[in-house]
Amino acid sequence: MTRPDPVIVIHPDRQSLADAIGARLVTAILDAQAARGRAQLALTGGSMGSASLASVSAVAGRSAVDWSGFDVWWGDERYLPAGDPERNDTQNDAAGLGRLGLHPDHVHRVAGPDTAESVEASAAAYGETVREHGTGAFDVVLLGVGPDGHVASLFPHHPAQQATDAVAVAVHDSPKPPPVRVSLTFECLRRSREVWFLVAGDDKAVAVAAALAPEADRWDVPASGLAGSEATRWLIDRAAASRLHS
Ligand code: 6PG
Repeated sequence: MTRPDPVIVIHPDRQSLADAIGARLVTAILDAQAARGRAQLALTGGSMGSASLASVSAVAGRSAVDWSGFDVWWGDERYLPAGDPERNDTQNDAAGLGRLGLHPDHVHRVAGPDTAESVEASAAAYGETVREHGTGAFDVVLLGVGPDGHVASLFPHHPAQQATDAVAVAVHDSPKPPPVRVSLTFECLRRSREVWFLVAGDDKAVAVAAALAPEADRWDVPASGLAGSEATRWLIDRAAASRLHS
């Protein structure tokens, strides 16, 4: 399937980027609800994911959203007990997700070692829940990007990238702590309607340029391996864009 070329939108700084993403999110949720009844959004950990959620609560149009018609997922989660301050969902909750008034049944968290038998069992159960909701196609997947070009918990040269026939995969020996994680697979993420990369800071400039290079290889730069079926948006600040050639 041919996919639209990525669109790159450059904002002056981290805060204006977060505010613009917050506004886009409200619009994307409204559009998805109008088209399909419910909106399905996969969130990301990292500072930009949380900053964007914090901005949603300041968007004037947010009251137009039916927050009960909204399912939230995570592209990846650190395999830690519920409520651990290092979990992506805990950080997203604190940033603003917890104040949107979502029904807990619509917030699909990855089980940690406090409730799952193993990280493999957690990944399998999470994948099954995604399948049950028919969420082969998220409306939007948010992805932070690491300085090494990783997205979700799919790291360069890591075997988790090669998972096939699975929605979610257990990740061991992540180069970024904590070492054990659960990640959606490329196969799952590629079914998303829209993929948004959220990137700020000059420490990301090399990764952004590498991911957008025509010869980029997913094995080396995982962020280069994902595109939405309807849109791929690189929402970045000037510092992160500093190595792109116009
Ligand atoms: C994790 C984080 C991580 C993060 C990126 C970008 O699980 O360790 O989710 O993958 O999304 O490193 O982070 P920043 O937005 O903070 O740069």
